[in-house]
Amino acid sequence: MNKSFFSERVLSGVQPTGGLHLGNYLGAIKNFVPLQQKFQSLFCVVDLHAITVWQDPKDLIANKCEVAAAFIASGIDPKKSIIFNQSQVPEHTQLAWVLNCIARMGWLNRMTQFKDKAGKNKEKVSVGLYTYPILMASDIMIYKATHVPVGEDQKQHLELTRDIVQKFNNDFKKEVFPMPEPIIMKSAARIMSLRDGTKKMSKSDISEYSRIMLTDNNDEIAKKIKKAKTDAMPLPENIEELENMPEAKNLLTIYSACENKNFDEVFLKYQNRNFSDLKEDLIEVVINKLSPIREEMIKLLDNHDYLQGILDSGSLDAQKIAKKVLKEVYDVTGLNSVS
Ligand code: ADP
Ligand code: TRP
Repeated sequence: MNKSFFSERVLSGVQPTGGLHLGNYLGAIKNFVPLQQKFQSLFCVVDLHAITVWQDPKDLIANKCEVAAAFIASGIDPKKSIIFNQSQVPEHTQLAWVLNCIARMGWLNRMTQFKDKAGKNKEKVSVGLYTYPILMASDIMIYKATHVPVGEDQKQHLELTRDIVQKFNNDFKKEVFPMPEPIIMKSAARIMSLRDGTKKMSKSDISEYSRIMLTDNNDEIAKKIKKAKTDAMPLPENIEELENMPEAKNLLTIYSACENKNFDEVFLKYQNRNFSDLKEDLIEVVINKLSPIREEMIKLLDNHDYLQGILDSGSLDAQKIAKKVLKEVYDVTGLNSVS
C-alpha cells in the first residue's frame, strides 16, 4: 500500500490522573510541540483511561484542566492543534467495542503494563484496566493517526495497535486504517526515579522525592535534585561506565533533554567531576525549563472557562473526523443499516 494514501496525522494522549511530572514532560509532551508544525495534530486528555483505576470525580475534573493547561503552557497551540477530552467524543468507545472483537485474548495477555499494574491483585482490578490497550488503539485508529508520540513504556501498546490495524484490514479486505508509527524520542524515552535509577519516574511512586512535578516551585526542584540518589564516587572517565551507574545516567539524561543537547556532549562536560557540580548546574537547567511552564500553567488554571472552552471546541473538531471514520467502519463491518 502506498503510504501517502493516508494524510499524515499525529495523535497522543495523557491521563488526567493528577500530578504531571518531568518524565511526562520530557518523554511525551515536550515532543508534541514541534510535531504540530508538520502534521495535523490531536492531543487528547484520556479521562476514560484514567477511570480504569478509581478516580475521585472532583479530582478528575481538576486533573483534566491540569493536563490541558500543561499542553498549552508547554507550547501546544490550540489554534494549530486539536486539544480535547476523550470522553466527549463517544466514537472512541464505539470503535473500541468493534476492536474488542478484533483483538485476541492472547495478545492482551502479553501486555506487561497490565501485569505491572495489576500485580498480585489480578482478580480484583477492573476489567477496564485489562482492556485499556484496546481503547488506546481506538483513540489512534478513530482518527486514522499515522504518528503517535509516546514514552518508551507505551511501545508495547503501540505494537498491539499495529496488530489490530493489520487484522482489521485483513479481515475486511480493505485498507481502512493506516499503520501507525510510534515516535519515541530516544533522548528522554524513559526518565527514571530520582531515588532509584532502575525505576521509571512515575506518579504512583510513594516517595515525592522520586519525581519533579510540573507544578513544583524552584525551591522544591532544588531540594529534590540535591537529594537525588548518586554514587559516592565522582562521575566516571568513560561513558561506558555509566551503564552501571543508572542514577548518574539519569541526571545527565535530564540535563541533555532539558537543554536539547547531545548526551555525549553533556557527559564530556562532567566526566571525572563531582556530582555536586552536576547537581548544581542541573538545578539551574531544570528551573530554567520548568519555571516558565509552571507560571503559564498557574495563569491558565486560574481561567477555568478558557480551558473548558478549548476542550469543548477541540472535542467538536475531533468528533467531525471521528464520525466519518466510524461510519466507514460501520460500512465495512456490516453494522450500518442498508437503507
Ligand atoms: P504515567 O505513565 O505517569 O501514569 P501517562 O500514562 O498519562 O502517565 O503518560 C503520559 C505520557 O508520558 C506517555 O507518553 C508516557 O509514555 C510518558 N511517560 C510517563 N512516564 C515517563 C517517564 N518516566 N519517562 C518518559 N516518558 C514517560
Ligand atoms: N496509555 C497512554 C499512557 O498511559 C495514554 C494514552 C491513551 C495514549 N490513549 C493514547 C497515548 C493514544 C498515545 C495514543 O501514557
